[in-house]
Amino acid sequence: MKSHFHDQVVIVTGASSGIGKETALAFGRAGARVVIVARRGEVLRQIAAENPQLRLLPIPADITDSAAINGVIETALCEFGRIDILVNNAGIGLRATVAETKIEDARRLMEINFFALLQFTQAVLPVMRQQERGQIVNVSSILGVIATKQHSIYSASKFAVRAFSDSLRLEEKRHGIAVVSILPGYTETPFFKNQIHYGELGRRALPFPGQSPAHVAKVILRACRHRRREVTLTAICNAGHWAKRFFPGFVDWCLSKQ
Ligand SMILES: NC(=O)c1ccc[n+]([C@@H]2O[C@H](COP(=O)([O-])OP(=O)(O)OC[C@H]3O[C@@H](n4cnc5c(N)ncnc54)[C@H](OP(=O)(O)O)[C@@H]3O)[C@@H](O)[C@H]2O)c1
Repeated sequence: MKSHFHDQVVIVTGASSGIGKETALAFGRAGARVVIVARRGEVLRQIAAENPQLRLLPIPADITDSAAINGVIETALCEFGRIDILVNNAGIGLRATVAETKIEDARRLMEINFFALLQFTQAVLPVMRQQERGQIVNVSSILGVIATKQHSIYSASKFAVRAFSDSLRLEEKRHGIAVVSILPGYTETPFFKNQIHYGELGRRALPFPGQSPAHVAKVILRACRHRRREVTLTAICNAGHWAKRFFPGFVDWCLSKQ
């Protein structure tokens, strides 16, 4: 039996590593044609070469460059004639207190985590509206619900992604476009090594095991199949999400002890 995603055209940003790479591979294994986007072209080409049985199209692009975003959309349309799913996944972290954060780093983070996602979405909307069908997956974070110490800017970007997704979902429903927010908890990827930081502490992952990016990818595909509106990953994060809504003072007290 053909999979739900068979022959669908999917664009995944940030597909050179971590959650994006696993999501692209999972869509590919489900029979989709997948455009994989990130800055490191050689890594994208290697992923495609290592998976010749999958239909992966590497397009190197810096998504903070609007001309590069338009180039990705044009190439995808030229190759495949349509775009069914956009996964806005590319993102970076910033670990620092508000007092020590450099404004240029805060702007850079917002540029990648929020404005690039906005521009990619704006570029794909006319295509999906014309098709009267499409799905947009925005990767936020559990820190888009619960802000913790030293993650103010990152959290702000991920809160913004959730709010943006909620509004977009309402606006685009009548055009047949569904929007899902994904809120992963701690996932073992190079994210922590890559995040903007001002001391060695900032490079460290958390001192307990995280979920695998392949698991997050599986959840993303399931969320698309069932056209979910928002999915929080891991039971503990779901408990935190719930506690934050009903007992915000208690959650603040717990987090302040960290
Ligand atoms: N890991 C976690 O615990 C966790 C938890 C919650 C949410 N998330 C979110 O999940 C998403 C993926 O993160 P990850 O954990 O998979 O981290 P990752 O392994 O560091 O992946 C980040 C991806 O973003 C790409 N990227 C960064 N800047 C870019 C730019 N300007 N243009 C194009 N691509 C760019 C990187 O590729 P290049 O360097 O090749 O450009 C890379 O493929 C992020 O939005 C992150 O905020 C992660």
